[in-house]
Amino acid sequence: MSPDKRTVVIKAEGVSKRFGTVQAVDQVDYQLYENEVAGILGSNGAGKTTFFNLLTGYYLPDEGRILYQGQDVTRMTPQQRVSLGMMRSFQLTSTFDNLSVIDNLVLAFFRAHKSASLWQLLINTCRKHRKDEKILATLASFDLERVADRLVKHLGLGEKRRMEIAMEILAEPKVLLLDEPLAGLAESEIKGVLDILRQQVGKQTILIVEHKISHVQDFLQRLIVMHEGRIIAEGGYECLQNPEVRKSYWQIDDSASESASASADAGEVS
Ligand SMILES: Nc1ncnc2c1ncn2[C@@H]1O[C@H](COP(=O)(O)OP(=O)(O)O)[C@@H](O)[C@H]1O
Ligand SMILES: [Mg+2]
Repeated sequence: MSPDKRTVVIKAEGVSKRFGTVQAVDQVDYQLYENEVAGILGSNGAGKTTFFNLLTGYYLPDEGRILYQGQDVTRMTPQQRVSLGMMRSFQLTSTFDNLSVIDNLVLAFFRAHKSASLWQLLINTCRKHRKDEKILATLASFDLERVADRLVKHLGLGEKRRMEIAMEILAEPKVLLLDEPLAGLAESEIKGVLDILRQQVGKQTILIVEHKISHVQDFLQRLIVMHEGRIIAEGGYECLQNPEVRKSYWQIDDSASESASASADAGEVS
């Protein structure tokens, strides 16, 4: 499909953010298309999280605009963007650690779809809706059936991350935004989280910010690479071979030794 025929969900127009003397994000233009799985890569300090925070509304840009389906949301708070149905991000949502996994899912679903107060929900909703088809299907597809009745505070990190993503997807946001969703996880847990995200491909627009390409290799449909607040490459995985990316992301000078390029081929950046 040619890029201009796809529906743009979120658009950034010339957004910048400065912290003191650091230009964390520097006039970035970006478009996220409906139902794609896109990624933002870049070394530490490249500006990925700052850009993510501009998209979610956690920061107000110094210049530029953020549009959601053509609507200017630049000055909207994260909560207002969530209420519009624009996006969800588990980084902006808290879990109830003294409740079970299934009760967290029930609350996430009903908070997003009904207007009753939270306390009413806590008292009345959980027991009644533990058997809802949607909740049970989510438990199964996110591999949480085994731990459905476990308190969240007793979950492993991989299980908790899967639950958090399940909670966001239950709210049916237009875009799922994830800043380093694999951070801190063991290899086996990473596989579990990627497996559940893979099930969403084609059904859910997903934007993932990730530092390590090896984590998301073969998963992203389109990626951008950031360096010093700017987008230095955009496209498929082939753009990782672009000389500027090799230099700033892989820290390989193409005129330098062969051992350096061997480590790039191994697909890792520290
Ligand atoms: N809240 C902040 N206050 C001051 N400087 C910040 C803040 N957040 C980020 N920075 C700086 O902005 C640059 C980009 O950081 P960040 O967006 O966190 O990069 P990344 O997520 O790619 O590692 C870095 O130089 C970082 O030190
Ligand atoms: Mg970051």
